[in-house]
Amino acid sequence: MERVVSGIRPTGNLHLGNYFGAVRNFVRMQHEYDCFFFIADYHSLTTHPTPENLRRSVRQALSEYLACGIDPDKCTIYAQSDLPETAELYLLLNMNAYVGELERCTSFKEKIRKHPDNVNAGLLTYPTLMAADILIHKAVKVPVGKDQEQHLEMSRTFANRFNRLYNCTTFPEPHAFNFGSGLVKVPGLDGSGKMGKSEGEGNAIFLADSPEVIRKKVMRAVTDSGPVNPGQEMPEPVANLFSLMRLVSTSDTVEFFESKYQDCSIRYGDLKKQLAEDMVAFIAPINEEIHRIASDDALISKVMDQGAEKAHASANKTISEVRNVIGFRTK
Ligand code: ADP
Ligand code: TRP
Repeated sequence: MERVVSGIRPTGNLHLGNYFGAVRNFVRMQHEYDCFFFIADYHSLTTHPTPENLRRSVRQALSEYLACGIDPDKCTIYAQSDLPETAELYLLLNMNAYVGELERCTSFKEKIRKHPDNVNAGLLTYPTLMAADILIHKAVKVPVGKDQEQHLEMSRTFANRFNRLYNCTTFPEPHAFNFGSGLVKVPGLDGSGKMGKSEGEGNAIFLADSPEVIRKKVMRAVTDSGPVNPGQEMPEPVANLFSLMRLVSTSDTVEFFESKYQDCSIRYGDLKKQLAEDMVAFIAPINEEIHRIASDDALISKVMDQGAEKAHASANKTISEVRNVIGFRTK
């Protein structure tokens, strides 16, 4: 069965961008593929070197994954740091990752622009660690949002380079994946760009947000003064609200507000109220599950142990093969 790998950093709660870009695919894929999903706690140290309570964040992230419908009996779910084989593969891939190509990576350039005071080697080699996460299980499909496209391209480069250098066929090529169509980019509420946890207050709707918080954030979303000419093109902030509506509302609702926009009779207050209620209804059952699971310490520990064990079994095989191909002693 084809292998699937994906991970999310535990640097904040899951938001609708994470859900529609990645986690929604995880839930479907677990029934059709051999899936490995992990909480990328090593990666979180690239931007948060001394996280306040990493253990708590990892457990919260796991609760949120499970609340979305990830079933630990159908897939393997684990903490990245429970699989140090990944770190060994990262070291080996780094020997053949060139500083030039890593420096050209868009996410690296963006991070050093935002945080010029912490340009560490972990940040530079973020794509090699990500490639190691994927290649350690020989995954071919990687469910991620649009922003991860370049990282996947680099993973393919590292996989192919390894095979060429050591004259082997150890690694298959991994590809970004989304059910049905192209990769997803969920917009934020601040008028431009994607929804993200580090994009500023009010940009993201989190699955752990209460109905009151969701309503407040949506009502404050950026819009403009409204259309004046029938059929006028939508400005980005308004188009973004419609994009969000397409995710959580019925097609009738979307069409209703689209036609109101087209004939210039739209009231953004009404649009936002409807969007907020549809988001609340969509998130409510997940939100309830998050609270239930997060308070079940025994369940969380059991799932973590079970995941680590299953992930080890897969990773050990790859690492032995890699060590053998390079010429190291194998255990
Ligand atoms: P953030 O950007 O909030 O820090 P992450 O980088 O941890 O989120 O993203 C984890 C996963 O969620 C990745 O697969 C990423 O592509 C996806 N993702 C994050 N934000 C969005 C978004 N706005 N639209 C689509 N997918 C997203
Ligand atoms: N880079 C991803 C993000 O920021 C997280 C990630 C780390 C990942 N390792 C991965 C995603 C391996 C898919 C596969 O969202």
